[in-house]
Amino acid sequence: PPPVRAIRGEILHFLGDPVEHGAAALEHFADGVLVVRDGYVAELGDSDALLAKLSAETPIEDFRGKLILPGFVDTHVHYAQSDIIASYGEQLLTWLEKYTYPAERHFANPAHAAAVAEFFCDELLRNGTTSASAFATVHPASVDALFAAALKRRMRLIVGKVLMDRNCPDFVRDSAAGGYAESRALIEKWHGRERLLYAVTPRFAATSTPEQMRLAGRLLAEYPGVYLQSHVAENRGEVAWIAELYPEARSYLDVYERFGQLGPRSVFAHCIWLDDTDRARMAASGAAMSFCPTSNLFLGSGLFDLDRAQALGVRVGIGTDVGAGTSFSMLRTLSEAYKVLQLNGQRLSAERAFYLATLGGARSLYLDDCIGSFAPGREADFVVLDPAATPLLARRSAACATLAERLFVLMMLGDDRAVAETWVLGEPAWRRG
Ligand code: GUN
Ligand code: FE
Repeated sequence: PPPVRAIRGEILHFLGDPVEHGAAALEHFADGVLVVRDGYVAELGDSDALLAKLSAETPIEDFRGKLILPGFVDTHVHYAQSDIIASYGEQLLTWLEKYTYPAERHFANPAHAAAVAEFFCDELLRNGTTSASAFATVHPASVDALFAAALKRRMRLIVGKVLMDRNCPDFVRDSAAGGYAESRALIEKWHGRERLLYAVTPRFAATSTPEQMRLAGRLLAEYPGVYLQSHVAENRGEVAWIAELYPEARSYLDVYERFGQLGPRSVFAHCIWLDDTDRARMAASGAAMSFCPTSNLFLGSGLFDLDRAQALGVRVGIGTDVGAGTSFSMLRTLSEAYKVLQLNGQRLSAERAFYLATLGGARSLYLDDCIGSFAPGREADFVVLDPAATPLLARRSAACATLAERLFVLMMLGDDRAVAETWVLGEPAWRRG
């Protein structure tokens, strides 16, 4: 592959949060060029200025008519639940028993894990997602399978082995000591290899004993730079159960804090039934929320409060939460986020939505120094969106007067069909048709 290449088209990325910085948060080139050198962003600017500077041999990829954005960042997803998307009729706790644990059981088989990991990574790329924070299952082989599939595609992924040593069927249960030892071995094997990072992954406080929770906190202390991912305050029945299991804790979130699991690089999915003390603790610790709107609607969990998270200064990213979430598409996920916030009397502008799906997600994972924008030196992961992918999109986009309107139409009506190409480290990783 050529060491330098130029990508031409309409280009958009974020320098900051549109809520804080308004129009200055965003950089937009109607006819722009992204110069990539050895997989990293070298320069970004107007085509007039940049094309003239390039040597005659530099290959130019021409995407005029398309919109180029940094690759999407999915901050919460379960690869092993790819096969149970759209499973009928349950809310969280019965959904776990009826569909999730039986599906995750099969990941003891490395061949099954490898096949699903391949499907999952391809599906991410087909939807323009180049980075994700993903749950595997309780089986160490399930982690190996996903890391191997991501490595092959050079994707930036955070993955962890699920820790669960109680309140679940024995076929998906580990032990406090065993889960600790397996996590250590996986960290040693994978964390920091190429673009791969490890997350200590207690499923949620209900399925770990206090001893396992303590050891999960110990892993974080022993391995600075390793992540923690879990679920918190998703469903009202779940919240009541946690209060019974941990009567000494002030709140559900407080359980994680007591076990040393609240800190920067801690990512908690859902965060619906929190109070402002919880939100303030998350902000102070640097932990992040993953807002998973399709999941929250599908399981009937509740409505995320983005305004309160913002008011208290908590980091927020967007998660598909497949397979409780119903789509791998970040575009579809953003449209559901808009609707969830509507039901909560809140507004999500298109600029803010695309910020959350790119730089905001990267920031929530402390990865904005490598992904999430086209600032020089960033890893050149990007998605090429086709604003005319369907007859309706074409018609509706053509009628828009402003960039904000066009972005809003794209996020409300777009899905995987709107993703023309996905590039990883300056090379094409997926192409439509
Ligand atoms: N809480 C504990 N496990 C899960 C899971 O797999 N999905 C969701 N949505 N919530 C959870
Ligand atoms: Fe989840």
